[in-house]
Formats: sequence, structure tokens, C-alpha cells
Amino acid sequence: MTLANGHRHLAIPGPTNMPDEVLNALHHASVDIYGGSSEEASRACMKDLKKIFRTRSRVYIYAANGHGAWEAALSNTLSQGDRVLVLESGLFPVVWGEMASQLGIETEVLAERTGRAVDLKAVRTRLAKDTAQELKAILMVQADTATGVVNDVKGVRAALDETGHPALLMVDTIASLGSMEFDMDGWGVDVTVAGAQKGLMTPPGLSFTAASARAKKAHKSAGLVTSYWDWTFRDGKDHYMWYAGTPPVQMVFALRKALEMLLAEGLDNAIHRHALLAGATRAAVQTWISRGDMDFAVSEPAERSDSVTCVLTPQGASTGIIDYCEHKLGVTVGRGIGPLDSRAIRIAHMGHVNGYNQLGTLAAIETAMTALGIEHGSGGVQSAIEFIAKHVK
Ligand SMILES: Cc1ncc(COP(=O)(O)O)c(C=O)c1O
Repeated sequence: MTLANGHRHLAIPGPTNMPDEVLNALHHASVDIYGGSSEEASRACMKDLKKIFRTRSRVYIYAANGHGAWEAALSNTLSQGDRVLVLESGLFPVVWGEMASQLGIETEVLAERTGRAVDLKAVRTRLAKDTAQELKAILMVQADTATGVVNDVKGVRAALDETGHPALLMVDTIASLGSMEFDMDGWGVDVTVAGAQKGLMTPPGLSFTAASARAKKAHKSAGLVTSYWDWTFRDGKDHYMWYAGTPPVQMVFALRKALEMLLAEGLDNAIHRHALLAGATRAAVQTWISRGDMDFAVSEPAERSDSVTCVLTPQGASTGIIDYCEHKLGVTVGRGIGPLDSRAIRIAHMGHVNGYNQLGTLAAIETAMTALGIEHGSGGVQSAIEFIAKHVK
């Protein structure tokens, strides 16, 4: 017997559910790329992206996934032999650092404290030791999608300022932009990396970098610049130059619609919605872990992201929960990745998701654990209900 037929829901931390309006915007004939509606859509996206990044700097749009924007950030600002400091926390910063190594950049990893955000004291100590100022950039993620840990970007900027260190601050916001507070200019971020497929509710395949004046200055002497990622070429006046080739027209129309929807809701409201859905999810998990052998992947409550919650499960149990949710109930829950492969489930609360979706996902997970005999504290969904009822009047 299965109850999976009906409207399915995707609760993985990216790509995320797309609004019908965004899907419909994709259904568009190709149009002239040398002006007209495609250029207008690009201009509108660039303007709206600045509001979402909270920056006055130019935002570059790439026909690429997040890895593309990682490479764009590195190649536009650095040279072979430069040294960068990678702030390990979860999975993704280290993978970004490995890409830097492949490009010929010396990569130093500040090791993580498992299940914790980046240790700001350790960052300060390392920067203070670098009296020769060999570190050219810091690479960090705001939210790591593998563990659901959130890092203090402002705190890292403060460490740079307190030590008078000139390294560029590069921040991956792929799992946080549009879902959590981020303020590129206010927080002194030099390069922001983002992707379309999570909080921005757009199909995978577009990614972004925004560059501060300091990053643009570094760009002038960067030795790794290649023609596709090159900010200077993309600053050209013609529409095709903004993409270093044919603009991905349908994707841009989809992005334009998604950004319109996000700004119509209001960025602050969207961020608040994510905080409440995350709070409800954490309330459910807190109850589940009161019995049995489960835990939050992130030990400190203040360091848990509002875009995804990662729950450690007994070995093998995660696969059963995910399969049950998928095949019996019609909701796709995220699996553990990297070192947490088969040891965790990831519950997304990111992008086009509402209270009804989230309560349904939580109820499905609790049903799966009950049906499969996985020991847990019962009443997690009730805790989520009480959390929402208290905060949403
Ligand atoms: C925080 C973070 N950074 C980078 C990436 C890589 O992005 P992509 O898979 O689009 O290349 C991901 C993907 O999930 C991510 O979550």
C-alpha cells in the first residue's frame, strides 16, 4: 500500500520547489538577445539581485551551477601561488578550497570543530599571526547545506578589521540567500557567491557573484582570469557580454519572476517565514531526539541554520525514513552527504515552502519513524504545531 500518489513535495535542501509562476515563465519562446524583452529581464534581475544581496555592487549572472560561481570568485581575484584560508564548517567550504588548490592557489584549512560554527577566536589568532599578510582571501560559507551549520560572517569581518588584515572576505551564500539575513555591503563582504536553485526558487543552472570595490581592485592584477568568468568582459555594454555569450534567456525569465515574487513578499518577511519554519522543525526534532539515538548535527542551538536542519540518525535508519517518506507518503526528504552519508536526514525549509508543506514533511518523517519502529520521542509534530500556534496569531 502507498499513499504517495497526489501532489508530491520536495523537502531536500536544493534544488527546491519552484512556484508554478516560475515554471510558467520558463515556457517562453526564444527571443532576440540583442535588446528587447530579454535585455529588460536581465536588467531587472541585476537590479533585484542587488536588493537581495544588499549591495550597491554589480552582480554577475553565470549560466552555471554553484561550482561555476566558486570558480568565478577565485579566478577573478587571485593568482597562482596566492594563499587562502578556508574556514572549514561542514562539507562545502573544503570542496571550494580543493577547487582553489586545483587552480594553483595555496590552500590552508582552519579545521572545524565537529558540529560547530567557525571558531572566531581561532580565525583572529590565525590572522594576527600572519604578519607578512600572505593570506590573500578567506573562503567561508554562511550556511553549510550538509550539516545545517550557520557561520557568523560579521564576526569574521570583525576579526579581519581587528587584526588590520587586508585579505578579501569571500562568502558562499548558496544555501542562505533569500532565506536568511545577509548584508553584503553592511557586513563588509568582498565577494559573494550565490546560486539560483535554493532560496531563490529558480531551476539549477544559474549562479552569481557580486564583487566589492576591493575585489574589483584585486581583479585588475589577478593572474587566474579566464574569458568565461571574467568580470571585466562582463562589464561590457552589450547584453551578450553580460553572459560572455548567449544569455540563457528562459532561465533569466524564470529568475526574474522568482525575484519579483520574493520582493513582493518582502525580503524581510521571507526571512521571517524561514525562521518560523525552521523553528517549527527544530521543535519537532527536539522532541524526537528526547528518546532513542538521534541528535541535531549542529550542537549549539544558535548555530543552526534557518534553511536546513540536519538530524543524525542511527546507522542505516536514515535510508529507511527517506524511502518510506518517498514511496509511501510522497515527500522527498534530504539524505546525509559527505561524512554523514547514511547517517543523517536533512529537512529543508528553504525557498517556496509554507507552514502546511513543513508540517506535512514533519508529519511524514514522524510517521516513517513510527511505522519502521525507529525509537524516537513521540509528539514532534505536536511540538511543531505548538511552536507555530504560539508565533503565528
Ligand atoms: C553551500 C553550498 N555551496 C556550494 C554548493 C555547490 O553548488 P552546485 O551544486 O550548484 O554546484 C552547494 C550545493 O548544494 C551548497 O549547498
